[in-house]
Amino acid sequence: MKNIKDQENLSQKKVLLRLDLNVPLKNGLITDETRIDKILPVLNFLIEKKSKIIIISHVGRPKGEFNKNLSLKPICESLEKKVKKKIQLLDENIFKLKKKDLFKNPQEQIVFLENIRFYKEEEKNDVFLAKHLASLADLYVNDAFSCSHRSHTSISKITEFLPAYAGLQLETEMKALKKVTTEIKKPITCIIGGSKILTKTSIIKNLIPKFDNIIIVGGMANNIIKYRGHNIGSSIKEFNCETEIKEIFETSENHSCKITFPEDVLVGKNVNDSPKVKELDNIENDDLILDIGPTTVQKIIEIIKISKTVLWNGPAGYFENPNFAVGSYEIAKAIVKKNKENSIYSVIGGGDTIALINQLNIIQDFNFVSTAGGAFLEYLEGKELPGIKALNQNV
Ligand code: 3PG
Repeated sequence: MKNIKDQENLSQKKVLLRLDLNVPLKNGLITDETRIDKILPVLNFLIEKKSKIIIISHVGRPKGEFNKNLSLKPICESLEKKVKKKIQLLDENIFKLKKKDLFKNPQEQIVFLENIRFYKEEEKNDVFLAKHLASLADLYVNDAFSCSHRSHTSISKITEFLPAYAGLQLETEMKALKKVTTEIKKPITCIIGGSKILTKTSIIKNLIPKFDNIIIVGGMANNIIKYRGHNIGSSIKEFNCETEIKEIFETSENHSCKITFPEDVLVGKNVNDSPKVKELDNIENDDLILDIGPTTVQKIIEIIKISKTVLWNGPAGYFENPNFAVGSYEIAKAIVKKNKENSIYSVIGGGDTIALINQLNIIQDFNFVSTAGGAFLEYLEGKELPGIKALNQNV
């Protein structure tokens, strides 16, 4: 894989730069800027080299349609302030853009394409969109490790039409995760939570042979609670995942991996509600499961105490409301305590998990913080990520 930092002669070269600026937004405001800060090195590097930079990113899941609430405008404005340069957000139809129309003003160095997921072609790894994007630039850089598990046009197909390079952050993340997976110390505990529940069931099955404990919390755990025959009220859930959950438990029996999931929960009638502790048998039809309960928290703390490595992806509850952040805070505190005693190696990943630990101001108390969520888990599974494969093939 070629890295952009080893390239000479980038002056005036038009660089298509894929970043993951999928940051949490609330009412049009960015609530955590970590992913923006992490890509500043590649941007500053290209600015210094006098390249002409075309940024591509997505935010959220607009499913191929324009959605005003998922515009990259606030992110573009934040980036402008950080690099102290004017950045134009090109919000016209992407297919109308032509290379000769970009950077007409010689002072202009960075343009930002509007959310690439407004185009249905993006998630189809579409050849037509790939060729069009390629026609705008001279080379391509992927500095979005956290999107590299997606077989999407701006991550994968694009590399068939332009010389393709890894970015600085992508290399840092890959090196760190490689180190974690080769030098890992047992017992290993993996905590999986968060609200992006789709597809995580199959990932868990593949992680079982590698770990001693898998702790399932967050929206993901609702599927298991339901599978075990409990009512989960109006909580988020995945459909048709019973067979996979059955396989998770069967696979864990054939390996020495213990699966832990909530024994009690905190519920509310809506996400802004106050919490009520409930046993799994008492959940009502209009309840939303929004955090783990105190018995579950205690059980998880005991597991962390005996672990030598902990990998954590996804909060335990709806942490945006502090009433439902307790489970996640307790998990974080237990890991940090062991980290300070030097008795655990801790890696955390994912946009929401980073936002959570930033709220507690403890980001420096973990051994490695990956911006990647889904990509982090798939990397741990041992899969070759489509974005990485594409870069490796572009030699
Ligand atoms: C992430 O937040 O993990 C990446 O931006 C990928 O987002 P996705 O899960 O919507 O593909």
